[in-house]
Amino acid sequence: MFSLLLADDNALECQITSDHLRGAGYRVTSVTDGLSALDQLRQQPFDLLIADVLMPRLDGFELCRRCREEAALRGLPIILCSGSYTEVNERQLGLGFGANRYLLKPVDPDLLLREVASLLQQKRQPPQPGSETSDDTEEQMQLLRTYNEVLFRKLDRKMHELTQQLEISQQTRNQLLHNEKLAAIGQMAAGVVHEINNPLSYLRSNLGSLQTCSRRVRQYLEALEAFVTAGPTSPQREALRQLRQQLDLDYLLAESEQMLHDCQDGSDRILAIVKDMRSFSRKDEEHPGLADLNALIRSSLNICHNQLKYHVELDCQLAELPLVPCYPQQISQVLVNLLVNAAQAIEQQGHIRIRSFSADGQACVEISDSGCGMSAKVLDQIFDPFFTTKPAGIGTGLGLPISADIVRRHGGSLRADSQPGQGSRFCLCLPLAAQPTTAEI
Ligand SMILES: Nc1ncnc2c1ncn2[C@@H]1O[C@H](COP(=O)(O)OP(=O)(O)OP(=O)(O)O)[C@@H](O)[C@H]1O
Ligand SMILES: [Mg+2]
Repeated sequence: MFSLLLADDNALECQITSDHLRGAGYRVTSVTDGLSALDQLRQQPFDLLIADVLMPRLDGFELCRRCREEAALRGLPIILCSGSYTEVNERQLGLGFGANRYLLKPVDPDLLLREVASLLQQKRQPPQPGSETSDDTEEQMQLLRTYNEVLFRKLDRKMHELTQQLEISQQTRNQLLHNEKLAAIGQMAAGVVHEINNPLSYLRSNLGSLQTCSRRVRQYLEALEAFVTAGPTSPQREALRQLRQQLDLDYLLAESEQMLHDCQDGSDRILAIVKDMRSFSRKDEEHPGLADLNALIRSSLNICHNQLKYHVELDCQLAELPLVPCYPQQISQVLVNLLVNAAQAIEQQGHIRIRSFSADGQACVEISDSGCGMSAKVLDQIFDPFFTTKPAGIGTGLGLPISADIVRRHGGSLRADSQPGQGSRFCLCLPLAAQPTTAEI
């Protein structure tokens, strides 16, 4: 029975290959690095070596070279396999160092068996010309130089990959931190909203009662007034008239109703914000729903009211829209991001126009502002994570990338166009037909 040595640091690949070889009737010993392979070869005779190229301690190239240097191992058939060194010059290097075959990973198991069988047939015959180790020093030097170059290139590529991975993991870490921060703010907002909700409910109920009280007191006073005025003149009647003047009762009665009415309006507003905040901070339901995009626009405007009210004139042109299959909270998040960006782009006074319409099986929202606009260079980067032109503490540069991601997972599109000094326009379109699944989101 032929005895084979298999050297591969990938445990799973090693297991699969050795099972396959054993199944074909070979005895297989496996090791996980080049140095152990060399030790094994020195300790006991093997009929053939199959070695991975990229291995710890001693790579396949060097293992080959050392085998060919040792008299006892010079005739050993060697198959090198690699998934990393796949270029022609790398293959030539392997053959130059004395490998009889150079196979690319993933190696077809049947091909491997054929190669093993064919090499074992030629066993003990002198190595083929291409795989022979040359005694010529200059040729050896050239091989070593190529080997160095190959290693250097590999190292360089690995460094590049590692740097990229480092950058990605740094970005992911920052994004996670940001998400955690957002989640914490969301939770805090949910807590605050809950706290506001209770006093708000009795405030609203009392305001309603006070309005009824005020109306009745006014009714009674008017009846009393009519009664007193109709009666005979008397010092008490005169005193009452003066008191009424002193207390400025006419003004107060007229104003109190208006004040109560304003309070009612204010509390309605607080209620709307509380409701919107509650749905905004709530986690999305498991399944997408059908949402009225116009209602989402209105509630997002409520949430952003504070950022808009002093310096922005709003122009809303909302067309009637079919219901949109989506995760409503996520779409609200996108709308809030776009509105806040638009508001922040307007330094002094300006306007934001919001238009909704349906076209080509999509429901769309267009948000244009008269803000600072963007240069082509900025426009090119706005969807890059962490790209921001805002001072630290104001912008993190995640609003648009997160929005674009949400829209993409809904199968929609988010486009921007802008000119410096001419304002910007963002257009969000969501498909009316495709229903996003939980798996997609
Ligand atoms: N309406 C707009 N007008 C002008 N510039 C904009 C507008 N919207 C986005 N930008 C530019 O795109 C950049 C990225 O926007 P994005 O929403 O991703 O991040 P941000 O607003 O800077 O920070 P964050 O949203 O994380 O608080 C902004 O810093 C700004 O330069
Ligand atoms: Mg933003």
